[in-house]
Amino acid sequence: MCGITGYIGKRDATPILIEGLKKLEYRGYDSAGIALLKKGKMTVCKKKGRVDVLAGLMRKNPFKANLGISHTRWATHGGVTDENAHPHVSSDGMFALVHNGIIENYENMKRFLVKKGYTFSSQTDSEALVNLIAYHYQYRTSDKDENRFLEAVRKALIHVEGTYGIAVLCKDKPDELVAARKGSPLLIGIGKDERLVSSDVLGFAGRANNVIYLEDGQVASITKDNCDIISIGNTPVEYTIKEIDWQLENADLNGAKHFMQKEIFEQPKAIENAIRGRISEDQATAILQGLNMTPNDMRQIDRIIFCACGTAWHACLVAEQLIERYARIPVEVEYASEFRYRNIPIEKNTLVFVISQSGETIDTLEALRESKRKGFKTLAITNAIASTISRESDGGLYQYAGKEVGVASTKAFTSQVAICLLIALYIGRMRDMSYSVGKDIINALKSLPETIEKTLKTAPQIKKIAKKYACKNDFLFLGRLDEFPIALEGALKLKEISYIHAEAYPAGEMKHGPIALICPECPSVVFACAEDVLAKIVSNAQEIKARKGAVIAITCFPEAFKDIADDIITVPKVHDSIRTIIDTVPAQLLAYYIALERGCDVDKPRNLAKAVTVE
Ligand code: M6R
Repeated sequence: MCGITGYIGKRDATPILIEGLKKLEYRGYDSAGIALLKKGKMTVCKKKGRVDVLAGLMRKNPFKANLGISHTRWATHGGVTDENAHPHVSSDGMFALVHNGIIENYENMKRFLVKKGYTFSSQTDSEALVNLIAYHYQYRTSDKDENRFLEAVRKALIHVEGTYGIAVLCKDKPDELVAARKGSPLLIGIGKDERLVSSDVLGFAGRANNVIYLEDGQVASITKDNCDIISIGNTPVEYTIKEIDWQLENADLNGAKHFMQKEIFEQPKAIENAIRGRISEDQATAILQGLNMTPNDMRQIDRIIFCACGTAWHACLVAEQLIERYARIPVEVEYASEFRYRNIPIEKNTLVFVISQSGETIDTLEALRESKRKGFKTLAITNAIASTISRESDGGLYQYAGKEVGVASTKAFTSQVAICLLIALYIGRMRDMSYSVGKDIINALKSLPETIEKTLKTAPQIKKIAKKYACKNDFLFLGRLDEFPIALEGALKLKEISYIHAEAYPAGEMKHGPIALICPECPSVVFACAEDVLAKIVSNAQEIKARKGAVIAITCFPEAFKDIADDIITVPKVHDSIRTIIDTVPAQLLAYYIALERGCDVDKPRNLAKAVTVE
């Protein structure tokens, strides 16, 4: 949510900042801007639209400088306009700031600053902060202060309620960049005679191999060859430098048309990575050292709560069914955004799991923190190495799915489900799961990459089906048991990237209301791989047909639908434990091809951003 890049070094900052912004554009693409500083002269260029628009403007009006900050925006406060684009400059012209997050008390700040004579030209919360920094620089620090710039930023931030990742330039300080974070990720990349700032390692665009992850409540003074970090409370911070694994961070299209397409087709590999080294064939169980729990600790667990948002929340719903089915422990699934404020009673011996691809989703992070505050053991499944959620949880499992850039989550979802199955296997084998059931699950997991490959072969057929239905404006998605979360996921994918209204229901619920929607203009996607309830879902499909609704069946039992469905997408028949993963693939492809048919920008859908770091 909003991308920030900053550069200080010996080279021309503009191409480095623009390249970084392009890599971060998946975090927001409403507007983009850049501020450069050279010998006391500050220049700012910002514009509504994509990074390419900004790049064009910079080519027309080049300004060579070795210090700069830049931003790609996902609008929160204030509409999508040139004025509201970042960087924001203080009204005395001394500071330029880029900000990711939300300043909740900005109206009070603004009232105070207006009284002091500061003026405003945007509707953003961020402009209040840059002016507050200017105020502190002028009135609350003196030019005798050795670290006056840093101090002004630190003192201003003490008054901020809300979240921020910021990078700031000061006209008086042509050799320094200040950055700070609370609730929004910010990283400092270390190169030779240069330092970079970014909200994501991708923003370093391969220019730095070592990185410092700023923690909440830290402020950094950065020069081309040094970095000093203090806390908001003004104590020096000792930091560690971590190496970036660029293999996992690879974000190139590699010949694909879209990241979403590339990531759908990367699922066999992503699953292979998720399960590698985590299976014990001998013991017919999983090896999950990252959980940091002894088998004895695990046996004490009476209940598990899963928390997440969006697609990751759908993975939690699948986890619920897998863990209850195979490990026989009650599971509850919570929306992370609700969990934090609901103050639900949690019994002792409850384990809290959060799932987050980015590891930075603020709602999920706060749910994790709330659980920790209450004394619960917290574990996380994340894809982003060293992300805030993975650092703050008591233990967890990395997905190793590789960078997911497409805003619509695909490979991260199926890899999360595979990891949840490993957890079900692990806990199940500690309880009453037999060796042979454990073995069946392991065989199923091992077969997944190949079975996904086979399922991906449905792509040409799905492309044709997509042509037929792309003109429809309403869809129903139906499934039973663990195929209901897949119906939810299929509907979400379609909504996100094609802007078609889609709703998902447990198939049996349809007759209790949604059936009123059925008509020739509202097709239904029916997931039907659960043999136990096959007859039931076939009946539901018949109810749709009887009302002249089109049925697209995703099933491994095509015979059962031959006289009912308008289109049948046949998927391989697999072990019950992995059917959700197989079901997901055609649902993703259907959304992808329908969006293409409708001419939508699948990788940058309107109003969305990849990592949602605001509440
Ligand atoms: O990074 P996270 O997994 O925490 O993200 C959670 C959701 O914001 C995310 O899954 C979102 O729903 C995606 N756009 C779905 O495609």
